[in-house]
Amino acid sequence: MNLSMKDKIIKRFLEAKDEPISGQQLADDLGISRTAIWKHLQNLQEEGYEFITIKKKGYKLIAVPDRVDAAKISSYLKTKRFGHTIHYFEEIDSTQRLAHQLARDGAKDGTIIIAEEQTGGKGRMQRTWYSAKGKGIWMTVIVRPDLLPHQAPQLTLIAAVSIVMAMKSLYTNFTPEIKWPNDILINGKKCVGILTEMLAEMDRVDGLLIGIGINANHEQTDFPDELQEIATSVAIEEKQKVDRAQLVAEILSYLERYTDEYIENGFKSIKQLWVEHSCTIGKRIRASTIREVIEGQAIGITDEGVLEILLDNGQIKKVYSADIEI
Ligand code: BTN
Repeated sequence: MNLSMKDKIIKRFLEAKDEPISGQQLADDLGISRTAIWKHLQNLQEEGYEFITIKKKGYKLIAVPDRVDAAKISSYLKTKRFGHTIHYFEEIDSTQRLAHQLARDGAKDGTIIIAEEQTGGKGRMQRTWYSAKGKGIWMTVIVRPDLLPHQAPQLTLIAAVSIVMAMKSLYTNFTPEIKWPNDILINGKKCVGILTEMLAEMDRVDGLLIGIGINANHEQTDFPDELQEIATSVAIEEKQKVDRAQLVAEILSYLERYTDEYIENGFKSIKQLWVEHSCTIGKRIRASTIREVIEGQAIGITDEGVLEILLDNGQIKKVYSADIEI
């Protein structure tokens, strides 16, 4: 794992939970002097971490700033590769934009870029993505599987399934559902958006940039007027504030697991999970594409993630990109 000394110290404290750690122990574990440890602890206090000294035992971490940084994520991480390199920012224009650059420069499979705030968050169809400070999970995961370009959309579906499974494993007060192509709704309101972009050559995927935007700790009043009726957050639905770093780590676990399973055994089981958690399939829908409005019953998705709609005249229509009303 690629952590700075500061992050290694925080991770060590987070993993020790309520146990104090002595300065000597820390110095030995991390291979630096006790004075250096003490200096790091001073700097951390300035950033909002609070420590108390327990006589003869050492330091105990008693308060952590509400951030979704590398130390916090990695203290929860159980993966083999995903999230082992974390680029964390207080503020960025778009994690997606930086991901393009890092992927072109050879970033490893599973590298993540995550920020407290995006000033130019990108949504699907050239929309902007509202990314409030300290409230959400604004992250891009660089995935570099050995795939052919036509298989790339399957990774987007894997991302949606991974987020749903992560939410189901951590929270109990709501059931997330996938709305085609890739929104996650809770009680009919949008909570997560996914934007997948690809770096590819004619016959080979060079990298996939899976951009994930999750409304995590927003209160209803945090959303701008135009989103009031259609957006929700995990905290609103779970009825309590959530630990964003824990959710990130859980998503990365599922994403790694399902990506590996897909490469090994194909798409079938993942597609089944997607369909099981979808609120689109089986419903009568109205799909607005750039060219037309199509009404009918959503009957399934193809392996490429294309939506199949059964029209009233019995014809089956394939929809590649559209806004869906259910
Ligand atoms: C959508 O339109 O539903 C997709 C939204 C994707 C937003 C995420 S937030 C992290 C990453 N960086 C961006 O600029 N966009 C994606």
